[in-house]
Amino acid sequence: MKLIARLTAATAILATTTLSAETAPNPNVEEAKGIIKEFATTLQGELQAAIKEGGPTNAIAVCQDRAPAIATDLSERSGWQVGRTSLKTRNTADNTPDAWEQEVLVDFDARRAAGEDVQPMAYAAVVETADGKTFRFMKAIPTGEVCLACHGSDITPEVAAAIDERYPEDTARGYSLGDVRGAFTLSKPL
Ligand code: HEC
Repeated sequence: MKLIARLTAATAILATTTLSAETAPNPNVEEAKGIIKEFATTLQGELQAAIKEGGPTNAIAVCQDRAPAIATDLSERSGWQVGRTSLKTRNTADNTPDAWEQEVLVDFDARRAAGEDVQPMAYAAVVETADGKTFRFMKAIPTGEVCLACHGSDITPEVAAAIDERYPEDTARGYSLGDVRGAFTLSKPL
């Protein structure tokens, strides 16, 4: 309830659901989850192939080029606005959270601190925007072992230099295994 109260300041919240594994199915949520699954599977497949081929330094370009391209492709195909965001972004230009996303991300961290499993953690709301009712959905992204080479606290100088060159404003470091790294964020006009 505290979250809903805080969010109301930014946008009119018409309905909210804090989603975990037990929540009853909702067609918009199921659709959003399907899009996210495709995003995650495609990106992780390409990321792991690139790491295997040339190590994490080689894979930075894959994250840089492919993550936004996959998001754009999925947005065009699905009619949803699809992206990724985080409280500490690497791609500050594209992935900085808006006020609503920021509140949800802060809440994800609090939910994790309270012992909730990050993998199924999600949040949905119907909000009133200037363009009418919008369905918004966010799903937490856990930090896995493979992520630490580029988002952990022990990044090699070579990888750090390659990141700095492309993202001089990078703040997406210092994560530990199991942390909420960020979230997929989707919205669709109702
Ligand atoms: C090879 C280095 C590398 C690895 C490994 C890596 N990332 Fe990233 N990550 C990046 C780069 C580069 C970006 C910026 C992409 C862009 O420009 O949109 C990024 C961006 C992100 C973002 C978007 C928010 C932001 O900071 O801009 C999330 C979320 C994210 N990564 C999660 C993960 C997760 C989860 C893993 C492990 C499964 C992972 N990353 C592994 C390099 C990496």
